[in-house]
Amino acid sequence: MSLAHQRRLWAIVPAAGRGERFGSDNPLLAPKQYTSLLGKSLLEWTLRALLAEPRIHAIVVVIAAGDGHWASLAEKLNSAKLKSTTGGTHRQDSVMNGLKFLASSARDDDWVMVHDAARPCVSVSELAKLADALGEDSSGAVLAVPIVDTVKRESEGALKTVDRAHLWRALTPQVFAFAQLRRALEEASRAGIEVTDEAQAMERIGIHASLVHGSPFNIKVTRAEDLEVAAGILKAGESSAMRVGQGMDVHAFGEGDHVVLGGVRLAHHRGVVAHSDGDVVIHALCDALLGAMGEGDIGQHFPDTDPRYRGADSRVFLRVVAERMQAAGLRLLNADITVLAEAPRVAAHRAAMAANLAADLNAPANLINIKATTTERLGFIGREEGLAALACVLLGPK
Ligand code: CTP
Ligand code: MG
Repeated sequence: MSLAHQRRLWAIVPAAGRGERFGSDNPLLAPKQYTSLLGKSLLEWTLRALLAEPRIHAIVVVIAAGDGHWASLAEKLNSAKLKSTTGGTHRQDSVMNGLKFLASSARDDDWVMVHDAARPCVSVSELAKLADALGEDSSGAVLAVPIVDTVKRESEGALKTVDRAHLWRALTPQVFAFAQLRRALEEASRAGIEVTDEAQAMERIGIHASLVHGSPFNIKVTRAEDLEVAAGILKAGESSAMRVGQGMDVHAFGEGDHVVLGGVRLAHHRGVVAHSDGDVVIHALCDALLGAMGEGDIGQHFPDTDPRYRGADSRVFLRVVAERMQAAGLRLLNADITVLAEAPRVAAHRAAMAANLAADLNAPANLINIKATTTERLGFIGREEGLAALACVLLGPK
């Protein structure tokens, strides 16, 4: 989007429909836009997606007169970007009311993005692609997906195949210039034409938007059965989110002639006091991984009161944690580990340590960075009473 023009981007979310095809006429059920899906209403999912696109200046949610659900959702979302106004009889009337609401703040050439409340699966990347498409010469942009099925036109019982070569399904959001969109919708209303999207109204006045490839996952929840599809899509999206975790471990020095770090045995004039082999690198890493997975900490999984773990090779812990990570559909994106010790010196062993960790995690070694520092002779590490490690990991979908 051209910043030179400073054309601001506003969003209008028509959410004033009656959801007749969905079955929202049942007064005992929440209306379609407030139907709960994986713990959030459709409208909440939709608004959270829009709120995540920083270029959107404000969002006007167009709600039905007498909507009893909006106030609590607005309170929950608690964003100064959210405004609301009341809708009209048809979708285009609701969008028009949104434009009227914006009339005192939007300039004629500001962009207005219209997005159905009923499309909760819109992705952050689709929103970004649309905003990116708004160049200086652009007359607007519409998300669409090419039709993949064979298309038939039925007339009086007879089917005729339609060439699908240039056919697209138009989705929302659709973005147009404020004044042009208002004129297009006014003219459609004046002509008594009910348009089902903004692009249709724009075409009538000779303004043609560019097509931006959208995702087939950006479905419109229209009928009750669409909810299940939307839930699957949203669940997959949630599990594709990246996860960050951090861990720390400390062991005191004691009797012995070596320490184990990252599965590598380093000669030292002392050993560590520990139930297992006392590998602070692996313990910190396991904690970071478990943290990223939201699965507690290493003590819960491998209690130091369990005799099975006496003197245990900590790489066994790491392999178990790696299996859990795989089972959760996650993989390591990177790990950054810092050893804090006056001695022994770690530098010469970094590659061997990373290779061990990588093998246990079934990941390339270049994703694992190992650093070491002294603490300038300060504190318990500086006095050589013990050593510590810190780990930070990022996990992503497998
Ligand atoms: N919409 C609106 N005002 C209307 C009609 C529709 O704001 N008078 C909104 C809906 O809330 C929805 C979007 O426009 O977010 C797309 O409409 P649609 O999927 O058709 O929803 P409904 O109109 O609610 O459903 P139906 O047509 O089955 O009654
Ligand atoms: Mg409708």
